[in-house]
Amino acid sequence: MERPIVIAGNWKMHLGIAGGRAFLDDFVPRLAGLPDRSRLTVLLAPNLTLLAPLADACGAADIRLAAQNCHPADAGAFTGETSVAMIRETGAGMVLVGHSERRQFFGDTDDFVRDKLRAVLNGGLEPILCVGETLAEREAGQAAAVVSRQLESALDGLPAAVDLMIAYEPVWAIGTGRTATPDDAGEMHVHIRNELCRLLPAIAARLPILYGGSVKPDNAAEIMSREDIDGVLVGGASLAPASFAAIAAAAPVSPGHHA
Ligand code: PGA
Repeated sequence: MERPIVIAGNWKMHLGIAGGRAFLDDFVPRLAGLPDRSRLTVLLAPNLTLLAPLADACGAADIRLAAQNCHPADAGAFTGETSVAMIRETGAGMVLVGHSERRQFFGDTDDFVRDKLRAVLNGGLEPILCVGETLAEREAGQAAAVVSRQLESALDGLPAAVDLMIAYEPVWAIGTGRTATPDDAGEMHVHIRNELCRLLPAIAARLPILYGGSVKPDNAAEIMSREDIDGVLVGGASLAPASFAAIAAAAPVSPGHHA
């Protein structure tokens, strides 16, 4: 089954409304200039404050919008938090859940990630579930086990037909300039695909699995050439229109790829 190639930008806590608009003014013509976009899904996860202001321009350019986080409750006394319904109102259609910065700095546990993922699905939006091991876990030979635990916790028991994406982001490669070797990443993506086959057999073959962690224009093509790497989740290099467009241009377009 042919999966899309997904080019996703995570702006984290960078770019305000003016900066986001300026980004799109520069990026959209570059995207339109790609020789073949037919297999590409392009999405941006800007700060929450940019979702509504950028929704129309992104919609017109066929760029999907994702929130970076959500709260699992429908409403309540959770100062500073945002429900899935509130995100949906902005025009965003997707939500990142379980990003390692949430897990590391804001105490998102496997259980909380599971609750968020279900809230996103129940609210009719599409989650991007982020998983990945720390350096200590990799060095202890625990990388595959950690990723399995995160996947199983979040996905076990989901209904047979849901839309979601997975992003494998080794924590030690995020914002560090270190990327997993294509072999290491490729091996983990095969492991993730096998776990998806176990946990969600009816849909495992169609779920995109993205790689994230110091993806740049000069390593994107090699990363995306691997079987089971269906795109990239890009932090730092998604902030500049030229580099994010260069990453989109590095996506494989040949119909044989990932068939
Ligand atoms: P990076 O971030 O590309 O800056 O390493 C990736 C991410 O955290 O999604």
